[in-house]
Amino acid sequence: MSTGPHALASATHDDDAALFRHLPGLRAHVTRAAIGRWPTPIEPLTGAEIPNNLWIKREDWSAEGYGGNKIRSIEFMIGSALRNDAGRIWSEGAFGSNHAVATATHARTFGLRSGALVFPQPPSETAFANARALAALDCEIRPLASVVTFPFGDFRLRRSSDTVQRPGAAEPAAVIGYVGAALEIADQIRAGVMPAPATIVVPVGSTGTISGLVAGIEFAAHMGLAFEHRPQVIGVRVTPWPVTSRFMVSRLAQGTAAFIAEHGGPDLRSEVRRVARSLRMTGAALGRGYGWPTPAGVAACRQLAPLGIKLDTTYSAKGAAWLLDKARHLEGPTLYWMTKSAEPLPEPTGDQLERMPRSVRRWLRRQPRTLGSRGDQGPAI
Ligand SMILES: Cc1ncc(COP(=O)(O)O)c(C=O)c1O
Repeated sequence: MSTGPHALASATHDDDAALFRHLPGLRAHVTRAAIGRWPTPIEPLTGAEIPNNLWIKREDWSAEGYGGNKIRSIEFMIGSALRNDAGRIWSEGAFGSNHAVATATHARTFGLRSGALVFPQPPSETAFANARALAALDCEIRPLASVVTFPFGDFRLRRSSDTVQRPGAAEPAAVIGYVGAALEIADQIRAGVMPAPATIVVPVGSTGTISGLVAGIEFAAHMGLAFEHRPQVIGVRVTPWPVTSRFMVSRLAQGTAAFIAEHGGPDLRSEVRRVARSLRMTGAALGRGYGWPTPAGVAACRQLAPLGIKLDTTYSAKGAAWLLDKARHLEGPTLYWMTKSAEPLPEPTGDQLERMPRSVRRWLRRQPRTLGSRGDQGPAI
């Protein structure tokens, strides 16, 4: 398929997303590439040694080919690239970025090329699999020697006519997708899929997901859909403060509310500012830092795998580890935001591997880190 009007028309033909149903004024201003399978299911999370009253939002099943939490934001980023007739869409993040894999997987179905500006991260099986998938998807990989040089790489990319997403797509024009997620949960509560959650637990990397959820809960409450009693939203940090500070989340949530107000929706900026103050963020599951597997995360992977829940050690395992440890002390019902795609990843051919930048190939040859400390002989996950 090519880009241009044909791709744009087929990208936007279906309007089943909760965001447009509840905020129809947005439709005239933003373009959504129809990628996701909405709504994603909500299921009770039950099993031996799993605390009561837990539920799970299956964002892992959000799209065919590659799902996960980022589908909600890239629908609008790919939509914007199609509208602007951009030839390529870039993502920015670590060598093993899920956002980059999600973008590369779905861009090509709309005839768009993809690129990824990436910086090194601790080697882990989860990150290796993503980097290999980028090669298999013919994504142009532009590696940096260090995250420190990221602003220069970003500056160079932005001088082109390509669409360049911020790391994690943490920008209001994309975060509106998670406002849609909160409206979707409101619909599911009204349909009796689950009782209104008292607590929502979300792993936090770039802050896009949690910021949109916080804003969206306020929109759903304002429209009388659900959340008369606001749930406590708890962010489990997988990247350190200050990237995941409450201030950053609150700022992006307010920016998203402002975007909606400026694009045909109601103005809830002050309500969102107020509610963002009650947000709770914890760094208790971070371990040694971004991308480092933790013993508790690996234990959570093992505990949930028999239930068909495939966690990744960088993000979803840390959130789940915190949840499983603390759930008995949380006010229920508690909803866990399951963010890692459940789909199998493509493997590159020998030629595709050869074409990868040398620094990434060198990184792929490193021994994957097992657990947090060097002496630990845990499994390589
Ligand atoms: C699997 C997974 N979970 C959670 C997150 C965190 O989401 P956000 O960056 O929106 O905070 C990410 C981000 O890339 C992710 O890939």
